[in-house]
Amino acid sequence: MSDHPIKSPRKLIEVALPLDAINAACASEKTIKSGHPASLHLWWARRPLAAARAVIFAQLVNDPGTNIGRGFKYGKNKKDAAIERKRLFKIIEDLVLWENSTNEAVLECARAEIRRSWREVCELNKDHPQAAELFNPDKLPALHDPFAGGGAIPLEAQRLGLEAYASDLNPVPVLINKAMIEIPPKFAGRPPVSLSAKGRKKDLGLDRSWTGATGLGEDVRHYGNWLRNEAAKTIGDLYPQVEITADMAKERVDLKPLVGQKHTVISWLWARTVKSSNPAFSHVDVPLASSFIISRKAGKQAYVQPIIEGGTYRFAVKLGTPPPEAEKVNKAVSGSKFPLSSLGHSNGGRLHQSGRLCWSYGCQVDGDCCRWPTRSHLSQPDH
Ligand SMILES: C[S@@+](CC[C@H](N)C(=O)[O-])C[C@H]1O[C@@H](n2cnc3c(N)ncnc32)[C@H](O)[C@@H]1O
Repeated sequence: MSDHPIKSPRKLIEVALPLDAINAACASEKTIKSGHPASLHLWWARRPLAAARAVIFAQLVNDPGTNIGRGFKYGKNKKDAAIERKRLFKIIEDLVLWENSTNEAVLECARAEIRRSWREVCELNKDHPQAAELFNPDKLPALHDPFAGGGAIPLEAQRLGLEAYASDLNPVPVLINKAMIEIPPKFAGRPPVSLSAKGRKKDLGLDRSWTGATGLGEDVRHYGNWLRNEAAKTIGDLYPQVEITADMAKERVDLKPLVGQKHTVISWLWARTVKSSNPAFSHVDVPLASSFIISRKAGKQAYVQPIIEGGTYRFAVKLGTPPPEAEKVNKAVSGSKFPLSSLGHSNGGRLHQSGRLCWSYGCQVDGDCCRWPTRSHLSQPDH
């Protein structure tokens, strides 16, 4: 054991936390769609920002209760400590709210509390032989998350005024964390470079201030739009707008007010096609798909229905609960049995590792005859 043990009062997290407020903030964060790092890139094991923010704060702030031991005494009596804890809880309750994520007054109050606790720890350890290196009251300890994933912890550490480091063995989190905690601070407070682009000075105005990463954000939007327009010039013909016709609206009353209008398609379902190995349909390219369910959300269910006509097929988008056959189609790729009665075929094939079940015609097909669509395929309305 060291001759100079570190004197550290208990932290708030070791004693108490306003869990109800933290839980409620975490739950409501799931509904945030805009401005949340989750919209930057999917990361499966992402932790709620509210929880990360509260936990980092409570790990750094000293509990106000009496701490006696290992050569030091710290803290207040029971009654005063309870009052002080209530004050700290209020800071956490404000801090975890999504709408306060960029509220400088709330954040600064939390940062000040962290700095105050740190100064107390430095004061307790001022006689430590490495005090100059380890207990500098003007420099908060840095935070390193070696398993950073979606970056909730380093992002919140940075928001609370700490120097944050992130690493991960997976390159996707590395990229997410670079985009979130490394790049934005480099451009903090700077106006967007796209301002000097022709004609933009007038649009944006040079007189406004560019706090935080707002200038960088403006550039990302500007060049993102540019990139999208350039991509549209090159491959936009593969993603044509769709005109809502009276025919479409016959089965879809929700489309009636849109008849005659052209709309951008928000989702494309791509499927490989193969020649059916059923001799009766060997001339037909049939789609292989793991799912034709568009939405499972209650009240918004939608699915694609194949309509077999003669020797060919077309697709219709249907609203409402998918029929059981459509659900079973999803499992076909992993090898389950499914009847094709809804398609007028009921041979109920079983899949094997070596092949795929033809969705429309129910026969087994070889996986190696898959091919990618060409522009000529895409120009055919049935595809
Ligand atoms: C549960 S996730 C972290 C989630 C993160 N706290 C967030 O809020 O998104 C765990 C992460 O640890 C990473 N990981 C697992 N083993 C690792 C290792 N040996 N070295 C570095 N990273 C590792 C994984 O790639 C994964 O991103």
